[in-house]
Amino acid sequence: MSLAGKRVLVAIGGGIAAFKAVELVRELQRRGAKVRVVMTEAATHFVGAVTFAGITGEAAITDLWDPTYAGEVHVELGAWAEAIVVAPATANLLARAAHGLADDAVLATLAASDARVFFAPAMHSKMWRREATQEHTAKLVARGARMLGPTEGPLASGEVGEGRMLEPKELADALERALAPAERPWSGKRVLITAGPTHEAIDPVRYIANRSSGKMGFALAEAARTRGAEVTLVLGPVEAAPPVGVAVERVVSARDMHRAVMARALDSDLVIMAAAVADFRPKAAATEKIKKATGAPTLELEPNPDILADLGKARSGARPALVGFALETSNVLAEAERKRAAKGADMIVANAATALGANASEAWLVTDSGTEHIAAAPKTELAERILDAADRWVRP
Ligand code: CTP
Repeated sequence: MSLAGKRVLVAIGGGIAAFKAVELVRELQRRGAKVRVVMTEAATHFVGAVTFAGITGEAAITDLWDPTYAGEVHVELGAWAEAIVVAPATANLLARAAHGLADDAVLATLAASDARVFFAPAMHSKMWRREATQEHTAKLVARGARMLGPTEGPLASGEVGEGRMLEPKELADALERALAPAERPWSGKRVLITAGPTHEAIDPVRYIANRSSGKMGFALAEAARTRGAEVTLVLGPVEAAPPVGVAVERVVSARDMHRAVMARALDSDLVIMAAAVADFRPKAAATEKIKKATGAPTLELEPNPDILADLGKARSGARPALVGFALETSNVLAEAERKRAAKGADMIVANAATALGANASEAWLVTDSGTEHIAAAPKTELAERILDAADRWVRP
């Protein structure tokens, strides 16, 4: 209940992402916020005011001229709110807010309120990149508003580009951080996290890989960022979008990942190797697609560099602290301890192989001071426990 008791006004603009405002209201309520809703007339074409009345228990304000409102409803709403989240914030809404217009319920409330204002832009990437939109955005930010997103992804037009509204959960997270700034014990600390699989090319269209989803690394990155750390994610090829607020460097092969990690690791306080690095690569990747007519090829493999082991050798003293993972099908604990010693790591997080791709899994944290068992926990929880255990090296 991280937003317990906070009074949040969700102001909905007229864009297709308006349907996500329903889930946003719910998510804020789940976190304990008191939520009210104000909508532009355009927004009501995408999602019904009745829906919001149903889930908030109060009328969603859509029309300043409604004679049932006694008094000045925009002033009352504006004074009630501690925070206003404009989601979706369309190009039109940003423009009108930047000019201080007050000709509908949303704009009049924004104009009348001293609350902190957060805009969640959502529009086609051409509209987002338009000079006018960027000027309006900059103006609003200069006056103290915060822009949450947009992010890159599939747009309503079917194209992919920058302009997609953040997901309700991401918006709620951002709001939570802004309104109830947690303690940031890792502020000033640098954390480097690898995630995802690596792809080892066989020819221009084929590769060797594994089933890593990147989820564990994402959960760690998010948890470290919430603790205030500056987080870099070195990310192998995955479908899912990485968390917001962390620097992302995308890589493909184990050798790319090795280079990216080595270039940054020694500046870090903590390196967590959550990536499932391919141990071997084809000795020579064919430059042309291998054709069926030439017959089944024999793949000759050669070893990839062991990134974690190289870090163990490269560091001088205890910095950066090194955390690795071991996914085992048998002898889980013995293997974890062997890898910890062999690679010079401070901690190995041992999982049974059933953890691959799963949301929850049992784990063991193997360090020099023994083994901590963690009963099946969601990856977000496991991430917190790993960081708790690493805290003694990050803040010696
Ligand atoms: N790792 C790495 N570089 C590699 C292989 C693994 O940095 N080339 C890291 C992984 O990110 C993980 C840890 O080392 O944090 C253990 O990975 P794992 O594949 O379990 O270890 P291996 O050394 O490959 O051991 P084995 O094949 O014997 O299980």
